[in-house]
Amino acid sequence: MSVLSVLPRPIVAAPMAGGPSTPALAAAVSAAGGLGFLAAGMISADRLVADVAEVRARTDRPFGVNVFLPTAGAVDEAAVRAYAERLAPEARRHGVTLGEPRGGDDGYPAKLAALLADPVPVVSFAFGLPDPAAVAALRERGTEVWATVNSPDAATAAVRLGVDAMVVQGTEAGGHRGGLPDDEDYALLPLLRLVAASCDRPLVAAGGIADGAGVAAVLTAGAAAAQLGTAFLRCPEAGTSPMHRAAAASAAPTALTRAFTGKRSRAVVNDFLRRHDRSAPVGYPQVLQLTRPLLAAARGSGDASVANLWAGQAHPLAKEAPAGDLVTELVAEARAALSAAADRSTAWG
Ligand SMILES: Cc1cc2nc3c(=O)[nH]c(=O)nc-3n(C[C@H](O)[C@H](O)[C@H](O)COP(=O)(O)O)c2cc1C
Repeated sequence: MSVLSVLPRPIVAAPMAGGPSTPALAAAVSAAGGLGFLAAGMISADRLVADVAEVRARTDRPFGVNVFLPTAGAVDEAAVRAYAERLAPEARRHGVTLGEPRGGDDGYPAKLAALLADPVPVVSFAFGLPDPAAVAALRERGTEVWATVNSPDAATAAVRLGVDAMVVQGTEAGGHRGGLPDDEDYALLPLLRLVAASCDRPLVAAGGIADGAGVAAVLTAGAAAAQLGTAFLRCPEAGTSPMHRAAAASAAPTALTRAFTGKRSRAVVNDFLRRHDRSAPVGYPQVLQLTRPLLAAARGSGDASVANLWAGQAHPLAKEAPAGDLVTELVAEARAALSAAADRSTAWG
């Protein structure tokens, strides 16, 4: 029986690396009948093991772990160097030196080994598709494998790999695009419908869903559950910084940009994004390694004009509420929206 088919409430707390996802947030969402997620990206394998243990100590409900795949593809080193020169004065102003753009795999082999040694209910992948051996090994241990897709073609490829479910992520989503780097941009609704028409796996819809009516909309459009990230940023259990909480609560616009990390991600528009968006090269994780000291300094000093404030397009709808209460409220709102739509449909000719 799949985790999604027995989930009491069709709400998945999106994995959010870089601080917001915590064991407390994952456990609170799972305990409320949704599916909580840990974000394994940008932490060590040892920290992942400790976080998994903490979720288990807090709840016996199922939860998931999200892993970043190593990014394949050539990087234009000259373009990364030119971007470093452009950012150097900004780094000096903040009293830091830019990092070395070395590349790297985010400790993927060690994290995968930890998840194989001590299996969790669900593993989802970001940044492309996992290799068939990893999918098979996880599934043999009873772990459900979810792939993140941004295009119908990627969904077809994921089905061929034998994944159990797919996170269908539209361009509205906060944070990084989680699929293959060269995919065309699809908003959530057309992507969900196209993937539903061609694939027989359960679909988890992600991107710009921040209230119960949004949840109802994607359930009606064929999703088995809605995955919400930004909507959980303001929960007390989340590790979101105060400046990021304020940005999520604001009405500021968002944009997709490579300026912060070299990979397209949706953030609240600020001075850094405006200044550097057009010059930022393709190059993850090299650009992230360059900017990391600068972004850390901005976080430390609360400088929202420079920090990477990931948020989806519906962020002004995010509420400040305990995660369990939020899950309950989302479900009540979704039910009301579905029944209001059903009532309206009775008047159709
Ligand atoms: C702060 C933040 C961090 C994120 N980090 C991750 C991550 O580590 N792995 C991942 O697969 N997706 C990540 N995402 C994307 C989410 O999984 C999800 O697709 C997105 O939040 C859905 O859109 P929404 O933010 O509008 O709800 C992140 C999103 C945000 C807002």
